[in-house]
Amino acid sequence: MTQDPTSPGRRLMARLDEFAAFTDDPPKLTRLYLSEAHRRAAARYIAWARAIGLEARIDPAGNVVARYEGAQADAPALMIGSHIDTVRDAGRYDGNLGALAALAVVEELARRGERLDVAIEIVAFGDEEGVRFPKTMTGSRELAGLVQAGALDQRDAEGVVMRDALKAFGGDPDRLPSTRASGVAAFVELHIEQGPVLEAEGLSLGVVSAINGATRFDVAVSGMAGHAGAVPMNLRHDALAAAAEMILGVERRARAEDELVATVGRLDVEPGAVNVIPGLARFSIDIRAPRDERRRRAVADIAAALDAVAVRRGVALKLVQTHEASAYVCDARIVAGLTAAVEAIGQKPRLLPSGAGHDTMIMGQLCPAGMLFVRCKGGVSHNPLESITSEDCEIALAALMRFVRDFRAG
Ligand code: GLV
Ligand code: MN
Ligand code: MN
Repeated sequence: MTQDPTSPGRRLMARLDEFAAFTDDPPKLTRLYLSEAHRRAAARYIAWARAIGLEARIDPAGNVVARYEGAQADAPALMIGSHIDTVRDAGRYDGNLGALAALAVVEELARRGERLDVAIEIVAFGDEEGVRFPKTMTGSRELAGLVQAGALDQRDAEGVVMRDALKAFGGDPDRLPSTRASGVAAFVELHIEQGPVLEAEGLSLGVVSAINGATRFDVAVSGMAGHAGAVPMNLRHDALAAAAEMILGVERRARAEDELVATVGRLDVEPGAVNVIPGLARFSIDIRAPRDERRRRAVADIAAALDAVAVRRGVALKLVQTHEASAYVCDARIVAGLTAAVEAIGQKPRLLPSGAGHDTMIMGQLCPAGMLFVRCKGGVSHNPLESITSEDCEIALAALMRFVRDFRAG
């Protein structure tokens, strides 16, 4: 596909570049839920939406939402969008692509004065990554009426309570637990693949068949801090050495089974001095599988293995589950609609599962939901090297637009 500099794909890429400047940790892109960078990004998103006449606003969970009316008032809505929070030192496309693409679709409809059978609601979720607070996907959970008990009372690493951060951001903690979106006929999320399949097959787009379920834990291993020179090896209760053995056990269990993945992505050691035996080690575990019964079996095995290490080494173990999301099989009608849209724009349809988690898996509890994937370079994601081409961006926008125009509620 040839592109002029003002093509929708290039415009969207330019906007994504501009949007990447909203960061809490320059020059890296880090935009955590309810942070200052998130606030500024949300304000920019609202400004762009208002510029085309939409009444964009921050909802109780801190999502940005806006509605483009259909031909009839009060028409059911097709909701499209993705998240605008990021991991630490992120790439610029995970989430942001889908959130800004949703805006681009509505801009195009508004520019043409085109009204559809359905309203289009766009959403920029704020809490997909779960980096700041342990319980995650607060934005989609709010829309689906599934906010978890205790979510508002959780604290970030600095001790900030989510309720206070949400209030300061412009959300509404008092309304958060009782909301649920109405009139949403379906939800569709455009997202980068975050894996290598599309690139390997020379394809721009993929239609997601199902999304991995996930369980996350915060683990605390308490031993006994002591002098690194004075305490003999056989009399130690080294929290870090115990944690290291546990972490290798997590890896071993995940390697033993196809399609199961498990990751320890965070490890903190106290007191953290060269000459002190570690007294406390805290780490995270993230376990995923496409089939819930496999994930649950792995979770039980891992908990037992950690326990066995703790008993043998004489350390205390505390395991707190922070997140659980069932695997989601994407809605058959949405999958068919996305496949038809991909074919209609002359691309080969390719069904593939998602290893990553997405707000779609929560939105699927509210309404039929599905996802469209865009190829990314080397399959690299959660990394500043994340990369997509403006050609693929253009193709993805065309497919999303086709899907939106052809979508019928009911
Ligand atoms: C989000 O990117 C996740 O899958 O953890
Ligand atoms: Mn994402
Ligand atoms: Mn991500």
